[in-house]
Amino acid sequence: MQKLDTKHDKQYGRVSWTELATIVLVLGQLPSVLLWSFFKSTFTPSKGTHKSWRRNLGDTAFRFVAGAWNIRQLQYCFGTTQQVYEKWARQNGLPVLVDELKGEDARLLWIGPRRTDRVVLYFHGGGYVVPMQDFAASFWNYTRLELGRRHLNVGVAVLNYSIVPTVTFPAQLKQAVKALQYVIASGCKPENIQIVGDSAGGNLALALLAHLLRPVKGVTPISLASEISGVYLMSPWVSLAGGSGSFVTNDSTDVVGASTFAYCGRKVFAGVPDSLHMYLEVGKAPASLFNGVQGIVDRILVTAGGAECLRDDIAEVASRLSVHHGRVRFIVQENGVHNDPFYDFLVGEPKLSDLTPEIVNWLEEGFRPSSSKVEIVTSEVGLDT
Ligand SMILES: *[C@@H]1O[C@H](CO)[C@@H](O)[C@H](O)[C@H]1NC(C)=O
Ligand SMILES: *[C@@H]1O[C@H](CO)[C@@H](O)[C@H](O)[C@H]1NC(C)=O
Ligand SMILES: *[C@@H]1O[C@H](CO)[C@@H](O)[C@H](O)[C@H]1NC(C)=O
Repeated sequence: MQKLDTKHDKQYGRVSWTELATIVLVLGQLPSVLLWSFFKSTFTPSKGTHKSWRRNLGDTAFRFVAGAWNIRQLQYCFGTTQQVYEKWARQNGLPVLVDELKGEDARLLWIGPRRTDRVVLYFHGGGYVVPMQDFAASFWNYTRLELGRRHLNVGVAVLNYSIVPTVTFPAQLKQAVKALQYVIASGCKPENIQIVGDSAGGNLALALLAHLLRPVKGVTPISLASEISGVYLMSPWVSLAGGSGSFVTNDSTDVVGASTFAYCGRKVFAGVPDSLHMYLEVGKAPASLFNGVQGIVDRILVTAGGAECLRDDIAEVASRLSVHHGRVRFIVQENGVHNDPFYDFLVGEPKLSDLTPEIVNWLEEGFRPSSSKVEIVTSEVGLDT
C-alpha cells in the first residue's frame, strides 16, 4: 500500500480525506483477510507453529493494518497513549493516575496503584510513531498481579513520551531521563527500579543506558547513587535501517513486516544529526559504547522471537552487551514473533506464551533484595538455540 505522507506535517494523527478513505477501505478488507488466514491455517499443516486460531487471527489483523496504514492513519485510529491508557484503565476498573513530568510535555501513567517502593518503569513500543497499545497495558497489568501474588507489590508506570513526527530524537530520551529522575525523586532507590521496554521502547531504554555512560549533548546528565536493579528489553528495535539476515528470512512470519520497520526507521532518522545515530542504533555504534554498563545496571534480560525480523540484530546487541556485563541473559523464543507475549492479550488467549513466565520470574528475582547478591548468571541463549 502507498504511504501518503507529506513531509512537513508535524501534527499528531491528522489525516486527509483520501487517507480517511483508505482507512475505511482497509477496514473493509479486513474480514476477508481474516477469513482467508483462518482457512489457510486450518487446512495447511503449520510448520512447528502451535498458535491457536485466536492468535493466528490477532497476529494477521495486526500485521495487515500495521502494513497498510501510514503514520498519520495509525495515529488517527489508535489515539494518543494517554487516551489509550485512560480508556483501558476505566474498562478494567482501575484508577486513572497521571503524573506530569514538568518541563518535558511527558507524563507517567500508573497501571494500578501508584507505588514507589518498587517500580517497573515501562517504555512502550510502536516504532516511535504510534502510541502504547492497550494489550501492552494488559500484559504489564498481568505481570503486576503475578508479582503481587508472590508478595511483591510493585508500581508500574508507563512513560507517555512524544513521538515522530511531532518531535525528533533525542526529545524522547530527555523525557526518559526525566521519568527516571522523577521515580527516584519520589523515593524509589535505583536498586528497586526495573526499566522495561518493548520494540522502540527497548530502543529508548538502550539509548538511556548509553546516555548514562556517555551523556548526549543537550540532554541532562544523570549520575545514579546506586545501580538500577534491571533492564528488560523485549524485541528491542535495534535496527532502524533493517536489512540483516532475519529481515529476509522472517519477513513473512513476523507480525510487523520488514518494509514497515524500514518505513518507520526512515521517519525516525529524519532530522536526527549523524552524531546521535549511534544512540538509536547501538548495534552499529563503536563496540566500546557499553563499556561500564556493569556499573550502572545489575541485570539485563534481552528477548527476541525466533520468527521475527529483528532476531539477528537483537542477538548482535545482546552479545555486545554481554562483552561488558556478566549478567546478561538472552532468550530466543521458538517461533515467537515481534513482541510475542503481548499478542496473547490482544485476543484473550488463555494459554500464554512460554516466554511470559520467564519474564515474570526474572523481574521477581530482581525485586528480591538478597537474590541479586547470590545469583550467578552469565549470558546464555535460551529455548531454541
Ligand atoms: C503523550 O500524551 C500527550 C497528551 O495526551 C500527547 O499529546 C502525546 O502525543 C502523547 N504521546 C503519545 C505517543 O501518545
Ligand atoms: C488488571 O488488574 C485488575 C486488578 O487490579 C483486574 O481487575 C483486571 O481484570 C486486570 N485487567 C487485565 C486486562 O489484566
Ligand atoms: C527466522 O530467521 C532465522 C535467522 O535468519 C532463521 O534461522 C529462521 O529459520 C527463520 N524463521 C523462523 C520461523 O524461525
